[in-house]
Amino acid sequence: MDSFKFNQIAMAVLGTVFVLFGVSLISESLFHSEAPETPGYTIAVAEGSGGETTDTADAGPAYEPITALLASADVGAGETVAKKCASCHSFEKGGPNKVGPDLYAVVDRPIASHEGFSYSAALTEYGKDKTWTYEELNGFLFKPKAHVKGTAMGFAGLPKTADRANIIAWLRMQADTPAPLPQ
Ligand code: HEC
Repeated sequence: MDSFKFNQIAMAVLGTVFVLFGVSLISESLFHSEAPETPGYTIAVAEGSGGETTDTADAGPAYEPITALLASADVGAGETVAKKCASCHSFEKGGPNKVGPDLYAVVDRPIASHEGFSYSAALTEYGKDKTWTYEELNGFLFKPKAHVKGTAMGFAGLPKTADRANIIAWLRMQADTPAPLPQ
């Protein structure tokens, strides 16, 4: 390309840059807004929580307990909810480990203990001396990644309390001897 053409292109590019720059300066001065003095939300810090922030003043779990709902839960509806898990979990006795471990008789089973499955360090660490009680399952299924930070379970969770109660009631039945219902 000859130098004349080059100059023309260079001028065109420079010109565009100037125009864009000018527009952004003008719009900045026209639409510039100050940050509000008080932000529209406040972050509550639970007392004695070591400075962690939560979005509610209540430091308790953000999910409802299901223990009291189990006796009247809908086991059939729970089986339907379990379809969401089936791509990663089998539920039969002696069933294969898939992306996640087989979940036969998971209620009251020690956490991260199914043989032949390689659990994340996070769940192994979390589960030391713990079993899958009804409320442990409830918290985990509400939001796996919040309940066990770093878990490998790539599932968003079951926000509806009834869904969790129903599936946990159904999980309980997938066992030789269903775990006793809480009193
Ligand atoms: C995308 C795949 C995936 C889906 C969907 C999924 N899980 Fe998991 N699940 C996993 C993986 C992977 C693990 C192992 C987690 C770890 O090691 O941190 C796991 C672990 C678990 C455990 C702990 C088991 C043990 O032996 O300690 C339970 C309980 C569980 N899942 C229940 C469920 C239920 C119930 C659903 C459906 C509502 C579900 N999961 C959906 C992948 C999945």
